[in-house]
Amino acid sequence: VTLDVEALRADTPGCRLVTHLNNAGASLPPRQVTETVIAHLRREAETGGYEAAAEAEADGRLGAVYTSIARLIRAEPADVAVLDNATRGWQSVAYGVSLRPGDRILTDRAQYSSSVLDLLRLADRHGATVEIVEDDEHGQVDLTDLRRRLDRGGVALVSLTHVPTHGGLVNPAADVGAMTRAAGVPLLLDACQSAGQLDLDVERLQCDALAATGRKYLRGPRGTGFLWVHPQLRRRLEPPWPDLRGGDWTGPRSFELRDDARVFETWERNVAAVLGLGVAVDYAMTVGVSGIEDRVRGLAAELRTLLTDVPGVRVHDTGRERCGIVGFEVAGVPATEVRDALRARRINTSVSDATGSWWALADRGVPDLVRASVHAYTTEDELLTLRDALPPARVG
Ligand SMILES: Cc1ncc(COP(=O)(O)O)c(C=O)c1O
Repeated sequence: VTLDVEALRADTPGCRLVTHLNNAGASLPPRQVTETVIAHLRREAETGGYEAAAEAEADGRLGAVYTSIARLIRAEPADVAVLDNATRGWQSVAYGVSLRPGDRILTDRAQYSSSVLDLLRLADRHGATVEIVEDDEHGQVDLTDLRRRLDRGGVALVSLTHVPTHGGLVNPAADVGAMTRAAGVPLLLDACQSAGQLDLDVERLQCDALAATGRKYLRGPRGTGFLWVHPQLRRRLEPPWPDLRGGDWTGPRSFELRDDARVFETWERNVAAVLGLGVAVDYAMTVGVSGIEDRVRGLAAELRTLLTDVPGVRVHDTGRERCGIVGFEVAGVPATEVRDALRARRINTSVSDATGSWWALADRGVPDLVRASVHAYTTEDELLTLRDALPPARVG
């Protein structure tokens, strides 16, 4: 599939102003998303927030958001919760699993910092342990080590990062899913960086829950995310913090929780942003996620080659399979300085602190990295612009 890059750029006003290589932070949204959000905010101002939400409910726009997300990941709308971010969705599952002393939680080296905090807290609280499944020689999660650890028994949860925050690694999530499914252990997949850049199918991935955010590769508004949970896992979870969206106060001392994924939602939310998320998902599907995936992978591979040829520049991405995020260092130049020098030329990148990913970076002596992340609307010329704007290495 060849994408119409010019059309993508024409839909993206920010392309005319910046070279945006921070899609792993937050992408430039297409105008359709921005216009949807603004139109709803205007409607709220004209008629009232509750009244505007009721209209969006009545004419099916809110319901369509669930249908769209479900189509994106090949799931059922009733199993989707729309939330403010990915973390809240991920936490709803992690904190909802019942843990007993001695239970084991397996995770990977690329796990996101917020999730690590939560896993360590949960283990402390319940007398469980957190084990890191080692990486293999390619720097992706080691399936042999995973199998060994699953075979020992007592595993309450496997928490896997599909794509980490700091680099191009794509973990073999479907292989992990096949193993956890066979072992009867729930798999919680962090798809925060993969949603919108990789074609996701929860059946094929064989995960039991998947958390994602709106603002990154999906190009939705900030403050949006979603959680999908397999109904079988949902019925085993204890929703950790339901409010009146998630349940009903049915009598003076009784309540009932909902029997769908909205049990994980909060009553109050930014309806304009939720509608914008739906439009972003529709936009990605209209363009075609597998086309986006091919282009993003191709551009990132090209960028790695360009960077590797620059003296003193080292790319740190690992994994057999790679995606749109490129983590690199310029010898002797702090990553923040590289980012700021680029920013001064209106080239957006970001920094991955080594201690923001202890297990994948700092523990292994990898320094803070500059993160350049491409999207389908990125051009080959922009890759050259980045390369040519890099401050020279300071070696010796
Ligand atoms: C791999 C990964 N997981 C989780 C998150 C958290 O997502 P959110 O900020 O939407 O909660 C991020 C955000 O950068 C991420 O990169």
